[in-house]
Amino acid sequence: MASISSASEAVARIAYQASDVVVSVQSSLSSASSPFAPHLHRLSAAKTPSIVSKKQTDVLPVRANADPLLSTYSPLRAGSLVSVTTISSILVQSIPHLYKLAQYPVVIHVALASSSETPSDYSDITAIRQCGFTFLHSETLREAQDLALTAHALAARSGRGVIHFFEEEKLSQDKPISADYEQLVERLLDTPASRSRRETTHAHDNTIYADSSRAAAAPSVADSSSREPSTSTTSRRDSDSKNSDNTSMTSVDSQPPKPVSSEDIFKATKEIWAAIGQVTGRTYTAFEYTGPSNAKAALLAFGADAGVLGEEMGAAAPHDPFVNTGLLTVRLYRPWLGLVLRDFLPKSITKIAVLEQVRRKTTKWGPLLMDVLTSIGGNAGAPQVVGYQLGHLERSTIKQALSGIFTNLMSETPIQNLEVGRSAIANALQEAPEQPQLENAYMKILDQVFENKLHIANRLGAKDAGVSAQTAASPEYGFGALLARQERRKKFIGEVQTAAREGDFTTENPKSWLSAWALKAEDSQKVNEAADQALARLTTDASPTAQKLLKSKSLFHKESQWLVGSDAWAYDLGNSGVHHVLASGKNINMLIIDSTPHSERAAADAERRKKDIGLYAMNFGNAYVASTAVYSSYTQVLEAMIEADKFDGPSVVLAYLPYHKESDSPLAVLQETKRAVDSGYWPLYRWQPAVGDAEPRFQLDSERIKKELEQFLARDSQLTQLIRRQPEFASNLSGSYGSEVRDLQKRKAKDAYGKLLESLYGAPMTVLFASDNGNAENLAKRLGNRGKARGLKTLVMAMDDYPIEDLPTEENVIFVTSTAGQGEFPQNGHAMWQGLKDSTDLDLANVRFSVFALGDSHYWPRKEDKVYYNKPGKDLHARLLALAGTPLAECGLGDDQDPDGYQTGYADWEPKLWQALGVDNVEGLPEEPPPITNEDIKIQSNFLRGTIAEGLLDTSTGAISASDQQLTKFHGTYMQDDRDLRDERKAQGLEPAYSFMIRCRLASGVATPKQWIQMDDISTNLGNETMKLTTRQTFQFHGIVKGKLRPAMQEINKALMTTLAACGDVNRNVMCSSLPQHSKYHSQVHKVSQKISDYLLPATHAYHEIWLKDEDNKKTQVAGDAIVDTEPMYGPTYLPRKFKITIAIPPHNDTDVYAHDVGLIAIQDPETKLLKGFNILAGGGMGVTHNNKKTYPRTGSMFGFCTPDQAHIVCEKIMLVQRDNGDRKNRKHARLKYTIDDMGVDVFKGKVEELWGQKFGEPAAFKFDSNIDTFGWQKDENGKSHFTMFIENGRIEDTADFPMKTGLREIAKVHKGEFRLTGNQHLILSDVTEADLSRMKELLKKYKLDNTNFSGLRLSSSACVAFPTCGLAMAESERYLPELVSKLEGTLEENGLRQDSIVMRMTGCPNGCARPWLAEVALVGKSFGAYNLMLGGGYHGQRINKLYRSSVKEDEILEILKPLIKRYALERNQGERFGDFVIRIGVIKPTTEGKYFHEDSQSKRPIPFCGAAPALDAGGCAAPSFVLVSYFGDTDCVSLRAGFNGPIARPGGAAFGA
Ligand SMILES: Cc1cc2nc3c(=O)[nH]c(=O)nc-3n(C[C@H](O)[C@H](O)[C@H](O)COP(=O)(O)O)c2cc1C
Ligand code: SF4
Repeated sequence: MASISSASEAVARIAYQASDVVVSVQSSLSSASSPFAPHLHRLSAAKTPSIVSKKQTDVLPVRANADPLLSTYSPLRAGSLVSVTTISSILVQSIPHLYKLAQYPVVIHVALASSSETPSDYSDITAIRQCGFTFLHSETLREAQDLALTAHALAARSGRGVIHFFEEEKLSQDKPISADYEQLVERLLDTPASRSRRETTHAHDNTIYADSSRAAAAPSVADSSSREPSTSTTSRRDSDSKNSDNTSMTSVDSQPPKPVSSEDIFKATKEIWAAIGQVTGRTYTAFEYTGPSNAKAALLAFGADAGVLGEEMGAAAPHDPFVNTGLLTVRLYRPWLGLVLRDFLPKSITKIAVLEQVRRKTTKWGPLLMDVLTSIGGNAGAPQVVGYQLGHLERSTIKQALSGIFTNLMSETPIQNLEVGRSAIANALQEAPEQPQLENAYMKILDQVFENKLHIANRLGAKDAGVSAQTAASPEYGFGALLARQERRKKFIGEVQTAAREGDFTTENPKSWLSAWALKAEDSQKVNEAADQALARLTTDASPTAQKLLKSKSLFHKESQWLVGSDAWAYDLGNSGVHHVLASGKNINMLIIDSTPHSERAAADAERRKKDIGLYAMNFGNAYVASTAVYSSYTQVLEAMIEADKFDGPSVVLAYLPYHKESDSPLAVLQETKRAVDSGYWPLYRWQPAVGDAEPRFQLDSERIKKELEQFLARDSQLTQLIRRQPEFASNLSGSYGSEVRDLQKRKAKDAYGKLLESLYGAPMTVLFASDNGNAENLAKRLGNRGKARGLKTLVMAMDDYPIEDLPTEENVIFVTSTAGQGEFPQNGHAMWQGLKDSTDLDLANVRFSVFALGDSHYWPRKEDKVYYNKPGKDLHARLLALAGTPLAECGLGDDQDPDGYQTGYADWEPKLWQALGVDNVEGLPEEPPPITNEDIKIQSNFLRGTIAEGLLDTSTGAISASDQQLTKFHGTYMQDDRDLRDERKAQGLEPAYSFMIRCRLASGVATPKQWIQMDDISTNLGNETMKLTTRQTFQFHGIVKGKLRPAMQEINKALMTTLAACGDVNRNVMCSSLPQHSKYHSQVHKVSQKISDYLLPATHAYHEIWLKDEDNKKTQVAGDAIVDTEPMYGPTYLPRKFKITIAIPPHNDTDVYAHDVGLIAIQDPETKLLKGFNILAGGGMGVTHNNKKTYPRTGSMFGFCTPDQAHIVCEKIMLVQRDNGDRKNRKHARLKYTIDDMGVDVFKGKVEELWGQKFGEPAAFKFDSNIDTFGWQKDENGKSHFTMFIENGRIEDTADFPMKTGLREIAKVHKGEFRLTGNQHLILSDVTEADLSRMKELLKKYKLDNTNFSGLRLSSSACVAFPTCGLAMAESERYLPELVSKLEGTLEENGLRQDSIVMRMTGCPNGCARPWLAEVALVGKSFGAYNLMLGGGYHGQRINKLYRSSVKEDEILEILKPLIKRYALERNQGERFGDFVIRIGVIKPTTEGKYFHEDSQSKRPIPFCGAAPALDAGGCAAPSFVLVSYFGDTDCVSLRAGFNGPIARPGGAAFGA
């Protein structure tokens, strides 16, 4: 039988079994932070049901400093049984709640701290004894269990709050007790009366402040099922049945209920104890007396170990002063039953010693002493009462202590308030408060901004003599301390002024400086300089006056003084700390961190319990107020802190940091923050109150604001001004949001369609689709058109745009849904599916329906995952049947794996539908117009103009039209939407959060420091404050809203960069190895890349026309007015698909030369060391479609050699052959790689040579040894230095831990060389002269940018952007790869591979932006959290990898990779690379050519590497470096082998030498 060994476990179990909700008060949200929490957590994890409700109990962890009892109101008012488990330290601060809660049947279990050294302090209990609760006190472990149950039974019966308290440590020394207790709990709690109470409880007191009447409203304290029904009260059930509103939780009933008296409580307690006694044989009474019935004296102990005292007293020897004495303990502490107490005492008692373990006494007499005195009475004949203060009693000294107590007691004039035992009493069970790890973000920013000027008055961990850590960390304490500090400085200024006038200094020098300082002492801008000057003079002056002033050195500088608190600080608990600071008008800055997630708040905030601190402070009128969120805008946090510091008066900086647990990942916090900011729930703003004649200034830093703020601003006419100034906010600011709007929109749209259709004849057919990427949507629209052609009145719309309640009125409804995620509905079908699934009253008896489903039978290839194939469609069909719909045809199944994809299944299903609708034999059907393709869009665009310019002017939407979205790509910008916000915005009836990505064109990735600063400005002022350095060596900006698109383009062009042709079906940015060591050679090659880039630029003037016009829209800013556009090179339809060119300079393949349409391998003249020419590769490419075997990645095929001056011509000719021969019908087959494979390498090459009029030369020998970057400092032949820094995944951003963006900007301000962006998304600080070297090193160090001490795996990893902005992402990439790498680093470390480079790449989809197919290990997103794992890529980018496992999640990825890494460490050959190793040991086969990529994949096989290594397979693809003398990309493994003869390098050697 299970046993229980601690009181907290016994109590937690009862609380869990007897409640619907347990509020677990914890010092942090980790379960180890409260004695009760681990037990509650365990029960909850095991999904144990509550004995009363039979449902799983809801355990709600709440931080001790976040006003924890507030969380009880919502569930209590909803009729739930609520209990609280807590430490005692929260009680005093919760007094205002306790008075209110006393009227509710809530149970609060309180653990008091104690240890073998220090007993508990009972003052937390005595301080709250008058709050209206019933108090029960347990003295043993078993008692803790029984009294916990008593507490719940009593609360249920009395309808009033019960506090049960005990000393955790003391009770847990008792022998373990049995856990077998459930029947008793059930018997006492699961009574008809308590069920009835809960069923009839209504939450109708609208505010918890409504009435603080102490009249509890429980007319019955006796359970009707009780064996001894109370005669003095009415049955609860009876009263409920008559008036169900008349509940125990109502304090504003029309008929005032009968208050619960002490007698009622006493009786109910007796009944409960009688019931417990019947089952267990244990008896309990309100007081307990043990000892002789003729005792003369008694000892009443409150806190001491009564058991031990009793034993000692019982064993008293005749000569002991405490012989013949008795011991009295209190079990029912409140209500205090004075009269009852007398009954427990033998009449013979003449003296009573009252021992109280109370540290903080507020009155001379202890509270229990007062209780006893009032009960016993002071009249003649009454026992004499003597109080003692109890400290710590050692077991060995108990006898001695008892002797002392009784000697004093029995003396004629006993001394009152004698201290007994050591005075140590434990602090309330409280650890020093800790700053939750996540909240450190704001502290770090404060530290960064104010450095040694920063003074946080209530900083955690600060040492303050004589004050507990808890107190020192409280904002109230900090406020007092700050006032004292300001006073002290004021006095000091006076002292300095006196010293400046009449001080006795060695020289006269300090005096003038001191008086200059005194004049500026309060000027935060000027004082610090004056302070440095004055201090310098004082330091050199040896006089005693100078020494004295120097003792207060810290007072010379003006501090930035801050108080830091949680939002709990501003609860309306009478004395709000925020109120006090505001009312003081002092120059004090408050940082208030709100960590409640938006979703939680939305639920909990129904009563608007918490004040909106920002509004409160703005209403106050004298304070600077800012609302910030570090995970939304780092810059805004900085600005707010600086402004708050400058403001001469109180400042409130509200800081949002929502999290559920301290262990929440930054990604979860970021997503939660974004939702709150985007929805307007947490607006970002800054407010300067009116000062002097100046108007108040309001700056909205986010796009939307919540209603209250809107009202406030409207009242202050701020809103009007704001709208006038920034009309773009108008719709956001004044629009209201919510589901009603959405419903209205739906109805309007549908009614409009309805009107349109009324004029038509024929049967109606409503087609509803759900589609993520357009297949199902296009098919649905096509079906609608085809229906129309057959005379049907058709209406086509997304499932979620259709009002579900109208469904029963339809005649024929056709659903077309694809499958997303793992067998899920696409986003625009989710809501309707939920409605259909959950509906109990939709009657589709008159509706005929059919479903066509689109899916992929191999998307989840494991046998057990077959259920996910077309699951939504199948589920929908079944549900419609269940709702009594009539099927028109069986559910149609489209499968991507069929020869024609989903069209195969569709062709089978559609005729059945027409037949069922009776329109199958319609004659003279018109020909269907062909779908509009990208080719149509291009040709109709008038050289890339389309309607972009008009679309930019349309302020009613953040989007542009679908065809313009295709065209803007050619201009270097993509429309995207924030996918983190899609659901939230949709729920609010808003369009997605559209914004644009802009990509620059920057040949070879070389930028000047000035350009760097300009790029930095653009990202901060117009984008989302971050920049991405891309895998193709350029700057990319995200989050640029439509209104800022033109300004951003103009700024980029002002920086002498362009975005033209950075994306689209044209030649894109031309890359080039960064090569720092050979600067001359690099600059030669760089020039070629620049030339190719310029030469292949499209000629259209549309770019200048659209983006670069002046304000008046007339003049173009860049020369070359459009006359008549022509595209001599591209023609009006440009290329069939994108076209990418790169140059690599051996031995560095850092630009992945094999992965591009054209790859140029630079060949150096061995003698002159200058550029000799290029080997040309053609036909590389990365994009693939999952499960579509017709698509594959490919490495470029070797065409041969050309000279530097021919390079751009050769690129042009290859491009032209592709232009004329590429597949323009199927974009999935349109890249050069397919054209070359379809035509054959030789034929294609022949056509290029024909066009060029020359032949390629023999390829020159070359050698690559890696495709990663070489980090650290390197020197070039001119003596200049270059530093390659590690920028994880190319993201330039500031975080509290790493202000990288600021650092790079500071560097750019003084750097005289270049910045070079690498193809691996890192950055080189280039061309640093010897003279500047130490300055640069200093700056790099200051901003932690000099750190390259990362694992080899991390340094060799790279990820694409993916979520939240990339519309194609199926899984996380950039935000997740660093996390995954961290999880592998332990294994690398254990196996001695920390320094070894393994190329690992991740992308969110198979499009391949981070070139995953060439990595030794790659993860390619399949669906959220699931990836295809690829193995066997070549270390220097020479070989494509192969699918090893499909759709694996993190645990499986780690399960596969960890043992494989271990094996690599043990079994690799010298210098053998990971990608080669996995091939050699037979884990994966090599991909010898792109078109064989899908062959021999291992995705369905079990993990093979746990046993012995299989024999060598395809042997020889293992050499780490080689000289390639034959065509590479198209050779097979055997011919490659012949070329491998390079030296064997030590793993990690050369690459990480620096
Ligand atoms: C991320 C993702 C997850 C998918 N999951 C499934 C699945 O679980 N079951 C299935 O049958 N098809 C699945 N598919 C295949 C799609 O349903 C199929 O390709 C469909 O044609 C896409 O249609 P849409 O463009 O309308 O979204 C998935 C496709 C993607 C991109
Ligand atoms: S690889 Fe896919 S998910 Fe990643 S950025 Fe490119 S398109 Fe987006």
